[in-house]
Amino acid sequence: MSRAKVISVINWKGGVGKTTMVHHLGTGFTHLSDEERMKYLGTTEVPRILLVDNDAQCSLSVSCLGETEYEDLIIGKKMGTIADLYIPFLENENADIDVNSYIMKWAVHCGGGGGYPQVELLPSHQELIFTDMDIAVYSPAGYKANMKLDPRVYKFQVLENMLRQVRDNYDYIFIDCPPNLNFITQNALYLSDYYLVPTKLDFLSVYGLSYIISKVKELNDMFVGQVSGYKPVELIGIVANLVKEYNKEPKGSQSNMLDRLYNSFGDMVFQNYVTEGDGISYASQLAYPVYAIPTTGTTARKQGDAMLAVLCEMLERINEVD
Ligand SMILES: Nc1ncnc2c1ncn2[C@@H]1O[C@H](COP(=O)(O)OP(=O)(O)O)[C@@H](O)[C@H]1O
Ligand SMILES: [Mg+2]
Repeated sequence: MSRAKVISVINWKGGVGKTTMVHHLGTGFTHLSDEERMKYLGTTEVPRILLVDNDAQCSLSVSCLGETEYEDLIIGKKMGTIADLYIPFLENENADIDVNSYIMKWAVHCGGGGGYPQVELLPSHQELIFTDMDIAVYSPAGYKANMKLDPRVYKFQVLENMLRQVRDNYDYIFIDCPPNLNFITQNALYLSDYYLVPTKLDFLSVYGLSYIISKVKELNDMFVGQVSGYKPVELIGIVANLVKEYNKEPKGSQSNMLDRLYNSFGDMVFQNYVTEGDGISYASQLAYPVYAIPTTGTTARKQGDAMLAVLCEMLERINEVD
């Protein structure tokens, strides 16, 4: 496979499953059968995956590394993080920093004390919370004289500059975003081929979706207008998560919201959804995706199967677009 496909997971709401989705989609390739990988990827090999924690809450880093390793390595500053990279790559698009040395290998826990060989992590640090403001107030010395550096777009190109060095090392890059559409998220969207929006099935969550999608369209129009050859980021779909079921069907009000979602967004809504359940909550305490926990519990297995179905549906959609 050539250049990595980049997928941002966004929603301006928190707690809808963005981080959970990135963690499970990224690790899910390993848990597909050879037949499924052959069908969706054209090879039985597990692709090379990079997970980018682009959120100051660092939930993805904690989910992948576990609390102890996260505290030791990240809070203990034994590893640099994405929070150390934004400003250098804002100041200089070709900053002399080895980005690969910030990427953690074999670090995403897969149960039994091991790590996923094919899944790597660019971790985050809470200090990323100030980076949006730093980007907003930044102005390079003499930028008006330097017309090559368009003052309106370079603030969206920082993450792309940062990942340029490593992009070819991967087949898929998933970017976990904060619950807003500020610079950090805009940077993720700028370099992404696709974006995925997880949502809960409550009225306000569903109501807010058309607004985010229209804002991303505005951003795309701005990028297209200012950067020649810019390829707009495409909505790969909306995925319902934390769905409450009764008799294996979404419960009354949830089912109404699912209908509303299909009526408003049609094909953009994934056919597969993920139910709410203890499997994912339990797995997250162990810092594993739900596929990796030692369980015979049916809700955990059901959630794992649903996540893999979402992954397959996403790959099918990508194959259709390409
Ligand atoms: N399908 C699910 N079933 C049970 N718990 C879930 C599910 N999806 C997410 N969670 C839990 O809900 C919380 C919020 O999810 P998270 O992925 O962190 O959301 P976000 O990144 O959008 O803020 C986390 O504690 C996560 O483990
Ligand atoms: Mg999150």
